[in-house]
Amino acid sequence: MTLPKHIAIIMDGNGRWAQLKRRPRTFGHIKGTRVAKKIITSCSRRGVQNLTLYAFSSENWLRPLNEVSFLMRLLRRYLGRETDNLIKENIKFSVIGDLSQVPSDVCEAIKNAAESTSRCTGLNLVFALGYGSRQEITAAVKKIAEQVAAGQISCDDINENLVSKNLSTYPTPDPDFIIRTSGEQRLSNFLLWQAAYAEFYFTEVLWPNFTESHLEEALKSFSSRQRRYGKVSTDVNLEKLSN
Ligand code: FPP
Repeated sequence: MTLPKHIAIIMDGNGRWAQLKRRPRTFGHIKGTRVAKKIITSCSRRGVQNLTLYAFSSENWLRPLNEVSFLMRLLRRYLGRETDNLIKENIKFSVIGDLSQVPSDVCEAIKNAAESTSRCTGLNLVFALGYGSRQEITAAVKKIAEQVAAGQISCDDINENLVSKNLSTYPTPDPDFIIRTSGEQRLSNFLLWQAAYAEFYFTEVLWPNFTESHLEEALKSFSSRQRRYGKVSTDVNLEKLSN
């Protein structure tokens, strides 16, 4: 089975899952965190090299204050509890996104987890937090413009590679597989530039119900797809199709 080099997941449906159970949305986020933990371990043990989880978007700040602070507390608790486990599993943790609105105790927990796991060489685990792709691209454009203005580079030096290098995801390779749960079929400002050649996988399953077998199913689907990057099929692939 061909494994993706970088899986990115939009973990959607926590709120609906809780509502279906007539419980508060926060109950869904608690279950969602447990599921995230399982999927992280599963990816790590399968030998996936990079996993990015959309934990909190730049637009999520617009949610009711109590839900936002609950999510922040959940994240701090998760990092506090899980850092030792991450080290044990050789998982390197980092964050992308704008942390300026993230409470200082959560920033501290993030910094601590990132520093403690910085020498781990297994799964590269990235949480997208306060993340928005348009904001990220805009920041990259600004950085490049500043380099031009300072005479460090010329306009002719601007190419795709330079743009990629100025994004917060650098040096993680672009995601080749993007999964979104809960039936929604959109990117919601997630890794817009980086998703140029990604395969997409949408499932109706709500994130709190997402299991390792659902992950297995998704990975099988990825493995069965032909990736041509705009080129034509090789003779080998054509032969496969005619059989
Ligand atoms: C989407 O469900 C989920 C989020 C906005 C947060 C995702 C966060 C977690 C899974 C928990 C945090 C993760 C870790 C690892 C600490 P939704 O609330 O948008 O659901 P809905 O679309 O049904 O309303």
